Amino acid sequence: MTELFSENYARSQDASDPLRTLRAEFHIPLHGGTEQAYFCGNSLGLQPKGARAMVEEVLDKWAHDAVEGHFREPAPWMPYHALVREPLARLVGAHPTEVVAMNSLTANLHLMLVSFYRPTRERPAILMEAGAFPSDHHALESQVRFHGFDPDTDLIELQPDEADGTFSMAAIERAIAEHGPRLALVLWPGVQYRTGQAFDLAAIAQLAQAQGAICGFDLAHAVGNIELSLHDSGIDFAVWCHYKYVNSGPGAVAGCFVHERHARTSRPRFAGWWGHEQTTRFRMAPEFTPTPGADGWQLSNPPILGLAPLRASLEQFDRVGMPALRARSERLTAYLESLIRGQLSETLQIATPRQPERRGAQLSLRVAGGHVRGRALFEYLAGEGVLGDWREPDVIRISPAPLYNTYADVLRFARAVDAWRAHNR
Ligand SMILES: Cc1ncc(COP(=O)(O)O)c(C=O)c1O
Repeated sequence: MTELFSENYARSQDASDPLRTLRAEFHIPLHGGTEQAYFCGNSLGLQPKGARAMVEEVLDKWAHDAVEGHFREPAPWMPYHALVREPLARLVGAHPTEVVAMNSLTANLHLMLVSFYRPTRERPAILMEAGAFPSDHHALESQVRFHGFDPDTDLIELQPDEADGTFSMAAIERAIAEHGPRLALVLWPGVQYRTGQAFDLAAIAQLAQAQGAICGFDLAHAVGNIELSLHDSGIDFAVWCHYKYVNSGPGAVAGCFVHERHARTSRPRFAGWWGHEQTTRFRMAPEFTPTPGADGWQLSNPPILGLAPLRASLEQFDRVGMPALRARSERLTAYLESLIRGQLSETLQIATPRQPERRGAQLSLRVAGGHVRGRALFEYLAGEGVLGDWREPDVIRISPAPLYNTYADVLRFARAVDAWRAHNR
């Protein structure tokens, strides 16, 4: 244990890591003149140095070409969103026509629900997790009401069955079987934001679809964090954001996946001109013919300045590849876990599952003594330049992001907790 707790160990692991050079591609925030140990990639990823050039390219084109920027090379704005299509598809394991970058996560969730939540008197219900991210709850509840149904009976919230607030697959299976004939939709997270638990998308989708329900996912904490094979998993739709592990900036343009089997669906949708079939879009006719695939759910011409940083981050993911990143992520999180279990277990209890396939980068840590001590530790860490994030009532989330975090960062966190503990017994 003491060896793991030594700077020599952390330094040698960093020096021999095949992905060690990636950190230099990011702006690392400073704290009192030295680099912060930044563990908030699950909230807002750091800025890739390449993002500025992408944004400046758009500003320059706007300055020089104005409206003609829509057509002028390089990177004309008219097909600009198509520049991110293929790398995005590779990132989430989808066919290019199954993904689109547009809007924000909650807006995309509503657009998906309009098409894929079609409740009937016999089948009105949605199954979701209790304790979901509030925006998902608001979206689902408002959709249930919008269709004239009652959230008290038709928005079913499954309580976690495991001690740490996590779910066993058996509990999910039982709930889907129990409510099956009444289920119109199952909406589940890819990685749960509070506990960091990762789920088996294909298994959940199979169970839901076997009951005749649609299955969609919120992948906010999964994209850029765990390996995804959205097409093969057979899920119906997914939505996510790009400002967390995908490092595309605050409020970045979000993502959306619609499985190929729905590419030419006649389901109702809320339409806009950018979803209209491309070859006839500029005839400006009133009839709407959707572009096949995910593009057909677009509403407006995209915010080019918002899409620009996404190009820079997707280039990094494409170059490194999720398998290598995920392997490094597992190494860093395992190191964090061994330091906590080996040395800090009186102070921190890990709520995230132990098995690597049941979690992503993040460990959610409950501080012994509850809210007051938890908050005190969180603030002490911030004062030491170690930034995690806080989730009420007593959870500190620490997410070593494999693109820029290091063993040295992880050790710095553990040592800071150790120092705090020594003075706050
Ligand atoms: C799991 C989850 N779902 C939904 C959202 C809402 O995202 P947005 O504000 O981009 O709609 C967030 C934001 O952090 C989130 O973490």
